[in-house]
Order: sequence, then C-alpha cells, then structure tokens
Amino acid sequence: MQPQTKPQNPNFSSGPCSKRPGYDVSKLDVSTLGRSHRSAIGKEALGKACSQTAELLGLPEGYRVGVVPASDTGAVEMAMWSLLGARGVDVLAWESFGAGWVTDITKQLKLENVNHLPADYGKLPDLNAVNFDNDVVFTWNGTTSGVKVPNGDWIPADRAGLTICDATSAVFAMPLPWEKLDVVTYSWQKVLGGEGAHGMLILSPRAVERLESYTPAWPMPKIFRMTKGGKLIEGIFRGETINTPSMLCVADYLDALDWVEGLGGLQAAISKSEENLAVVKDFVQANAWINFLAEDEETLSNTSVCLTLDASEEQVKALVKLLASEKVAYDIGAYRDAPAGLRIWCGATVDKADLQALMPWLSWAYQQVTASK
Ligand SMILES: Cc1ncc(COP(=O)(O)O)c(C=O)c1O
Repeated sequence: MQPQTKPQNPNFSSGPCSKRPGYDVSKLDVSTLGRSHRSAIGKEALGKACSQTAELLGLPEGYRVGVVPASDTGAVEMAMWSLLGARGVDVLAWESFGAGWVTDITKQLKLENVNHLPADYGKLPDLNAVNFDNDVVFTWNGTTSGVKVPNGDWIPADRAGLTICDATSAVFAMPLPWEKLDVVTYSWQKVLGGEGAHGMLILSPRAVERLESYTPAWPMPKIFRMTKGGKLIEGIFRGETINTPSMLCVADYLDALDWVEGLGGLQAAISKSEENLAVVKDFVQANAWINFLAEDEETLSNTSVCLTLDASEEQVKALVKLLASEKVAYDIGAYRDAPAGLRIWCGATVDKADLQALMPWLSWAYQQVTASK
C-alpha cells in the first residue's frame, strides 16, 4: 500500500543540505548587502562568523577560526599547500573525498615521504598503523561511504606531526576532540544547511607555529596565503577575508549559527542528528533487504547515512527516481563513485518526523521496483 503521509520537507541531500526547519530567506539580516566587506558593518558580520563559531564549538584558547574561499575544498587545499612538506605525510582514505586528498598530496604537491593508508567503502583503515611523527591528513566523516572515525583516542596528545582533518560533514554533528586536531575544515553548506562557496579553517597554535616557521618549496597563490613576512595574517581570523566573500552567504551563516544557539547549542545539534540516525537504524533492523554500508556500528555516520539494498543498480536508480517523482525524497542516491545504494542526510537541519515519514515510502518504493525481480 502506498503510504499516505509524505515528509513535509523532502530535502535529504548530503550537500548542499536541507535548510533548517523554519528557514525563511526574507528574515535574514541583509543590512550588509551592497556595502564593502571591509566597512565596519561588513567586518563586524565576518568577525562574528568567526567568533560565534569558536564559541558554539567550544574551541580551546588560542585556536583561530577563519572564513576562506572555495568552500571546504578551498580550506583543505589551503592547509595542505601551506603546511605539508616539512615532514612526511600519512594520509588515510576510505572513500572518494579522502582519495582526492591523496591525489593532491602525491600527484600535485608531489610529496615523496607519503604513507597512504587506504580502505574500501564501508571500512576504515587501521588507525593504529598511523605514524604521528608524520603529518596526518584524514576526513572525520567519509561523506560518500557513511563511515566516520569513532573518536580521537587513536591520536596521541604528544604527536610530533600535525593532524589535518577534513571534518565538513562532522562539525556541528559529532563531538570533535579539538586538542587532538591541528587543522579542521568544513563548509557552511553541510551540517548547518548554509550556502556553498565559503569554507571555514580552524587552526591550533601548533599549526600556526608551523606556518610561521616553515616556508614550502612551491609558490603560494594569493588565495592560499596565510602569512606575511613569516607571521600569521591574524586579520584573516578576525573576518578580514583574503578576497571578497558573499555577504548574503555570511548573513545566511549567521542565521544558521543563531538557530544552533536557539536549539541549545552544539550538543543539541549533535543529539538531533543522533536521534535522526536512530530512525534509520530502527528501519534497517526491521528490514532484511536494506543494510548500512558501514560495516562496524562504531563507525556508522550520523550525518551522511549510506545504505545498500538487496537490489540491482538499475532498481536502486528506479527507486530514487520514483521517490523524487512522488516528491517524497530528493537527492538520496549514493555518490557517483560509491557503491550503488542510498544516502540519506540525517544532520540536525533534517526533522526526525520527516525521516519517520520517509521510511514507509522506502518499503513501498522497494516493493515497486523489485516486484518483477
Ligand atoms: C568529506 C568531504 N570533503 C570535501 C567535500 C567538498 O566540499 P565542498 O564542495 O564544500 O568544497 C565534501 C563535500 O561533500 C566532503 O563531503
């Protein structure tokens, strides 16, 4: 039987992710629009984007937060091009985005002392095999496999190298052990349901020390440059962006931060996401034809939840199309490089009631597409 109730909001994409419940573009504070981003009002908004982020995330003393160009990719590239090369590098990759960082490190930066720790979709590399005398590059949550690192226990407090963590689908959704992370990047368009184009770069004091004591052998494009005369350009981390940002996107980000604050802060956003995952978990437990791609429950992502079905690739595609045509779920097909299946975003901007409404539709659509099997 076709279910009666549809999700009120069918947006379950893993990026850009759903806008928060109650989002209204006409309610944004657009007083900065049409003004210079270097005017007092512009700098205040950008400065607030940095300081409110630090406050909500509970960053340790001395950590810097900056708004940088080109979304999460921009932030990761900026970090890798500015910091790597001083030591060997261990790079962990268990899905498409991590694999992209491996390519940059080996084929673009052409670093030689590189230890690549790969794992297939659904698994994690052996975290105990990481050499922390090297710099270590990894994603906190593999968005295209739905596999996250379970915690930071595998990272030693007294490491010699830096940890560079692409945490774009984890920040504001998973607890992060800040003291163990020297560089953390994310984008507005993921967990907070913000806009694309801008990235966030968080630096520990050890990362700053590296920036001020090491100059890479390669040229540094202006868009990546974080130091001048061997000193950190502190202004970048107070809202004096390297180049011109979209003040509309900034207004949207500030709206998202206020929403998190209104929810009760970071922990409330994390809990909301975990409750969302619980809805999918119950469904998977009750239905033998659907499984998590993540093999170990400890590593199961609570944001980009990836699922495999007892169905052919064509049947999965038909299911995704059917649910979109019913206006029940948009953009829930697996990432193009990942094994065929579903990927359902469970971050805090998604309402639990909408996931609850979606689950019976998955059963219905599965029956429709496999009926002639
Ligand atoms: C783990 C990870 N890294 C990097 C990116 C690229 O992010 P952006 O398009 O915001 O640069 C994504 C996007 O989904 C991601 O999930």
